[in-house]
Amino acid sequence: MSKTVRKAVFPVAGLGTRFLPATKASPKEMLPIVDKPLIQYAVEEAISAGIEVMIFVTGRNKTSIANHFDTAYELESELESRHKDRLLEIVQGILPSHVSCVYIRQNMPLGLGHAVLCAEPVVGDEPFAVVLADDLIDDGQRGCLAQMVKVHNDTGASVLATEIVPPQETSSYGIVDPEGDGPVVRVRGMVEKPAPADAPSNRAVVGRYILNAGIFRHLAQTGKGAGGEIQLTDGISRLLRQEAVLAYAFKGKRYDCGSKLGYLQATIDYALKHPEVGDDFEAWLKRRFGPAVIT
Ligand code: UTP
Repeated sequence: MSKTVRKAVFPVAGLGTRFLPATKASPKEMLPIVDKPLIQYAVEEAISAGIEVMIFVTGRNKTSIANHFDTAYELESELESRHKDRLLEIVQGILPSHVSCVYIRQNMPLGLGHAVLCAEPVVGDEPFAVVLADDLIDDGQRGCLAQMVKVHNDTGASVLATEIVPPQETSSYGIVDPEGDGPVVRVRGMVEKPAPADAPSNRAVVGRYILNAGIFRHLAQTGKGAGGEIQLTDGISRLLRQEAVLAYAFKGKRYDCGSKLGYLQATIDYALKHPEVGDDFEAWLKRRFGPAVIT
């Protein structure tokens, strides 16, 4: 019987170079989609999947993330005295009381695999989720992670969220060698950022993982890989030689908010359905670009 997934690791120690200068003094994960930072969408998805311990692996310039999930007494008393009840509710509701946050420092940006390994002392010997907040996933329901926890609970295996990417884009992703092409299939092998000619498929891993604790042993033995970094992909490649690792074709739409284009696409889609500005934004888009702009 597999253990429940109670903990999620959020690696937020990357340099975010694709968003410079915005990320010079502030983390990429605090970039807002309309009015909520990426990291809050990620934490909400984890909470919706039943996760109660949020483990942030941080680097330089990450204090704003800790502040975001902490109580802001001065702001709250100011909002209270101005009778801004709705805003007070939003600020106080960021983190439910049954959820706790732990911060671990990755003192050198040695790669995603290294960042995950830094969380081992807090995760311990139980399955856990890894969430890359710059992959924003909208499934219109409980979220991608809740879908994956169900697959994990049914199988006890590690689960990787995957989607089909255009063949020319394989060099931007970890690519799996799947056994067949169903929505949940066993992974035979994995390659980090292969050229299209070397890719075993065009089924790419995106920023959601459920991993069994055995991954730590393999990460500890993984040397530097692609880009001179310790790659999570290489650790998973070792893990799958010893136990089942599943590729899961999640339901929902993913926005690559680590890229400027994906970030802008997410901003427009989320703005259009935002309860406060959605209707006005749609009307403005139609005036500006013609009624056919929204289909
Ligand atoms: P990315 O490959 O997106 O790198 O990292 P990055 O530094 O965040 O962004 P760019 O490419 O320079 O613009 C994938 C994930 O791994 C984390 C990042 O924070 C991101 O969530 N990461 C990466 C770490 O936590 N530590 C690292 O050493 C490297």
